[in-house]
Formats: sequence, structure tokens, C-alpha cells
Amino acid sequence: MSRRTTSTTQVAIVGGGPAGLMLSHLLAGQGIESVVLEARSRQAIHETVRAGILEHGTVKLLVESGVSDRVLREGDRHDGIELRFNGESHRIDFQDLVGESVWLYPQTEVFADLAARREADGGDVRYGVSGVSIEGAETDPALTFTDGDGRESELRADLVVGADGSRSYCRGLIPEQTRRRYFKEYPFAWFGILTDAPRSSDELIYANSEHGFALISQRTEIMQRMYFQCDPRENVADWDDERIWSTLRQRVNGNGFELKEGPVLEKVVLPFRSFVQEPLRHGKLFLAGDAAHTVPPTGAKGLNLAIHDVKVLFEALDSYYRTGSTGGLDTYSDVALGRVWKAQHFSYWMTSMLHAAPGDSEFDQARRLGELNSVVSSRHGASYLAECYTGWPSPRA
Ligand code: PHB
Repeated sequence: MSRRTTSTTQVAIVGGGPAGLMLSHLLAGQGIESVVLEARSRQAIHETVRAGILEHGTVKLLVESGVSDRVLREGDRHDGIELRFNGESHRIDFQDLVGESVWLYPQTEVFADLAARREADGGDVRYGVSGVSIEGAETDPALTFTDGDGRESELRADLVVGADGSRSYCRGLIPEQTRRRYFKEYPFAWFGILTDAPRSSDELIYANSEHGFALISQRTEIMQRMYFQCDPRENVADWDDERIWSTLRQRVNGNGFELKEGPVLEKVVLPFRSFVQEPLRHGKLFLAGDAAHTVPPTGAKGLNLAIHDVKVLFEALDSYYRTGSTGGLDTYSDVALGRVWKAQHFSYWMTSMLHAAPGDSEFDQARRLGELNSVVSSRHGASYLAECYTGWPSPRA
């Protein structure tokens, strides 16, 4: 018969993706103990292909907090993007407009850096944990779960952080009468591919065309990431390489620009959803990242928002453990949500400006081109996009 092991910690973190690991890492730097519980294996998280754009503030935090400087050595700094419509490309020059850049560095690499740093620092990160259940989240949190090796465990903590992703268990612990959920569904999705091909462009191309949206991104010299708008019910098995490339060609090629093609290595359909649950705190439970909010991938904000939540929460926890002040914990939800809603708006705006929805009229598409034109032909319009894309300054920075 297995006996239950009981332990205690200061901060219990549910979820060992980038948000949970980053929080655990920052806390460790201030001598604050945490235990991270993650349902998946380290390998499974590492193999999940996710978006690849980091805001300058995210990069700064990774480097300055000592996670790794690999992003600076192996990531690519991007000083702008291209918006392509009516067959022509228009560059949004981030450096010129707002003096900032973003980095192309896949989220899986951010996870790998964080996992390696936590391991090297002796962090208590438990992968393959199942059946997490939390009692007393409001006043005196106790977590029970089955460890990766099958042992029944109990963990008592001062505070719990739910960083358990878009299928969060923790967010459901906030009672219905005290929470509010906001949803938006979109009538399209992205078909994402990884391809064994050289780069078609040095910068990201966001393309609107009469055939639908496409995004040309990169990974390495020899592997590229691309997406095109599709029906959310699309089945990847129905798409062979030729069908994929002819769809992309139709949406992006023209006026001297031609995609460099290669074998398709991976195919996935990504749903589009905007979601927010408020507030981010209930008693001793705090939500961070995808557990509390999801954005459509058009502005690449998901990971950046999660890291911002974690930064604000870390500062609040640090102040609480150093001085006993709960001021930062009390304002965490409002401060984090300020940026969450800006990012919700930006992601929605980029999405609606670049994608035609099924059933749109000719007026809708012509108006969309008017909107794109008003962004690229105005320094104010382009600066607005550049500021949102590269990341707003943190209110507490
Ligand atoms: C990606 O490279 O995966 C990527 C880049 C920009 C986006 C979304 C995804 O807006």
C-alpha cells in the first residue's frame, strides 16, 4: 500500500510551461521556495511547436535574470515586419518608428532554457504529475496529486499559482459568482507548417490576399514556419505538399516575390480564440498566462503576455516575502489585466485587419484594404502597430 508523502513550500506552481518555470526561477533568485507541478513530460512540452516572436522586454528578462543569453546568440533580431496586400509589400520599420526590435526565438527554446536553468539550480520541478487537486485555495492551500513515479503526495503552500495553460484546472477554482469569463470565437483557423526549405524572406511577412491570409515566418537557415488561414474544421490529412504550396503561392507570390519551397515536415490546425477570465486572484490563488487568457496567434502575444504576468506577480511576491506587504498581491490582477486587454485588442485588430471572414462582402474587403493603407501610409499608424508588436513598456518597469 502506498503511503502519502507530505511536504511544504512557500509557492506551489501548477504548470511547468514557460510561465510556471519563469516564476519559479525568479523566486529562486530571491531565495523564495517553490515547487512546480506539471502534467506533461519534459520531452512532450519541448516537442510542442509554438509561436516564435519575443518582445524586447521578454528577451531582457530572460537575459538579465540569468535564464540564458542563448536568445541573443541563436535567436534572430527582427527590426521590422512586412505587411503585404494588393500584391505589394510594405515594411513596418520598428527601429525607425519606436526604436525597438523583437526576437525570433521559438517558444520551445525558451522552455528548454528555463528547464535547463531550473535543473542546474536544483529547482523542484516535477513532470508527469497527475490528478492535481487543490483544497483551501482561498485561505490555506493544500494540493494533492500523484507524482510521476506513482507516489501519492500532498503539498502545503502559502500561496498557489495556476500557470496551467489554456485547459487550466486552477481557473475553475475561482467560484462562478466571483469570476467573469469573456470569449470570442473566430470563423477561421491557421494551418501551420514546418518546412525543410531555405528562407524566403529575412523578416516576417503578414499577407492579406483575396484568397485569404498567410504568414511567412522562419526558424533556421534550413527550416521555415508558415501559416495560412483555413476553415477550423480542416483536416491536415487532406493536405498534401502540393495543395499546401499552391495555397501559399496564391496568397503570397507575385510582383517578383516567390516562396522557396521544400518538403512539409509538420502540419497542424491552430484554432483562433480570444479568452479572458477575471480577476486573476482569489484568496491565495493567482492565475498567470494562458490559464487566464488566450489570444489568437496573429500578433504573437501569448508567451509575451504570460511572461509579463509572471514579472508582475514575481515583484508582488518578492515584496510580500521581504516586507510582509500585500500591496502588490492586491493590485496584481488589475496591473496584469491592463496589458492583457491591450494585447487582446491588438491581436483582434491584427486578425480582423488581415483576414477575410467567410461571408464578408466586397465592401468588407475594400474597407480592409483601406485600413491596411491607412496603417502603412501614415507614420502615426505604423508607429501604433510597431509599439504594440514590440511590446508596451511595463507599468512598473
Ligand atoms: C511563428 O513564427 O510561429 C509566429 C510568428 C508570428 C506570429 C505567429 C507565429 O504572429
